[in-house]
Amino acid sequence: MLHTNLDINGAGHLTMAGRDTVELAGKYGTPLYLMDQARIRERCREYLCAMREHFGRNALPLYASKALCCKELYRIVAEEGLGCDVVSPGELYTAHAAGFPMEKAYFHGNNKTDADVRCAMDLGIGHFVADNREELYAISREATKRGKVQKVILRVTPGIDPHTHAAITTGKVDSKFGTAIETGQALDLTRQILTLPGVDLVGIHCHVGSLCFDSGPFEAAADIMIAFMAQVRKQTGHTLSVLNLGGGYGVRYIEGHPSIDIPDNIRKVAERVRARCAAHDFPLPQVLLEPGRSIVADAGLTLYTAGSVKTITGYKSYVSIDGGMPDNPRYALYQSDYTVLNASRASARPDLTATIAGRCCESGDLIQEDVRIARPERGDIIAVLVTGAYNYSMASNYNRIPRPPIVMIAPDGSDYVAVRRESYEDLLANDL
Ligand code: LLP
Repeated sequence: MLHTNLDINGAGHLTMAGRDTVELAGKYGTPLYLMDQARIRERCREYLCAMREHFGRNALPLYASKALCCKELYRIVAEEGLGCDVVSPGELYTAHAAGFPMEKAYFHGNNKTDADVRCAMDLGIGHFVADNREELYAISREATKRGKVQKVILRVTPGIDPHTHAAITTGKVDSKFGTAIETGQALDLTRQILTLPGVDLVGIHCHVGSLCFDSGPFEAAADIMIAFMAQVRKQTGHTLSVLNLGGGYGVRYIEGHPSIDIPDNIRKVAERVRARCAAHDFPLPQVLLEPGRSIVADAGLTLYTAGSVKTITGYKSYVSIDGGMPDNPRYALYQSDYTVLNASRASARPDLTATIAGRCCESGDLIQEDVRIARPERGDIIAVLVTGAYNYSMASNYNRIPRPPIVMIAPDGSDYVAVRRESYEDLLANDL
């Protein structure tokens, strides 16, 4: 099977974390996001242990909550000792409501409004990851008004293309996020920040991209970031003590994708960071990473019920399911790869090539095209694997379709609802 938490039982049904997915679909209805809590915890531990071992005791993974944001996730992540990265006051509010320690929350976003800045300070945010000059002035004003000093990390762009690992002069420098190192603007801005009252600039941040399958882009970024830290020290006398290298490790969505040894990747990045710090005679900073997808993606799958199986003579076959782009917009948006299985006949030979279509009034509402699947009958349970990241968090109510629930399988094998299914009443909640 694609991941070790998946299997097939004696009834020929797909299982996750030892539980029969067809039985759980029957219990909770479909569509249903099903998640394996033990797998989330395992990933959190993998990051925390490897980072502490290789970067030192103060290293910290920050769970990037945009991958999946709900109170239960924050509770699990907090119990595992990670920090979190939030990208909106809504995510921060959710973390706060779940009792997440605010000093371990880092507030991102490329356009924080004055209201966002106030809200984050009201909730006691630990760090702002400041994107731009206007935002820094807003943070400074608000902190000064409150008579406090706010810790800030500056987001910079090192100009790395994650798919070539090369530093490039266009493209990745041309980004709506952060301030470019290469143009000299990051250094100019740093000088300005150091004169601002109410702001304590503790470090720098970058995020090179998504779906990285090795440590190359992180190592390339570390080179540029540490050289920049050394330059800041030389030009201003200020020593930055935090290096945040962002998120971006990929996951295996289909058999053709490689699996990633996260601890080994972290070891390689740490070797590079240590070597560059030694070369610049710079003290080893506190290192932060922001994994999102790799913490939750393979802990989740989505269950649907098959409706029609339509073969257009001379063309192709469509299997229609009772969900689609409202619960998983990633194929419609990015043509993302997914593994689709007939969970009710998981040991049967895949004998049909079909396009898996959602129920929206939109021809682009597809989950995957031309996949091999054991021919479903109406009522069979269809599983789409590795949907734990960027599915629920990107879900919408398009066509007034309620969002599915998230059901967790606990480490003891019991199941519980972490997010309940939206009702039609919920859909009307804001209508006056
Ligand atoms: N930190 C920052 C600043 C980010 O922008 C992101 C992702 C992360 C961390 C987490 O990256 P991860 O480890 O999850 O790759 N909606 C897209 C993904 C967008 C990711 C944006 N930023 C998708 O469905 O593939």
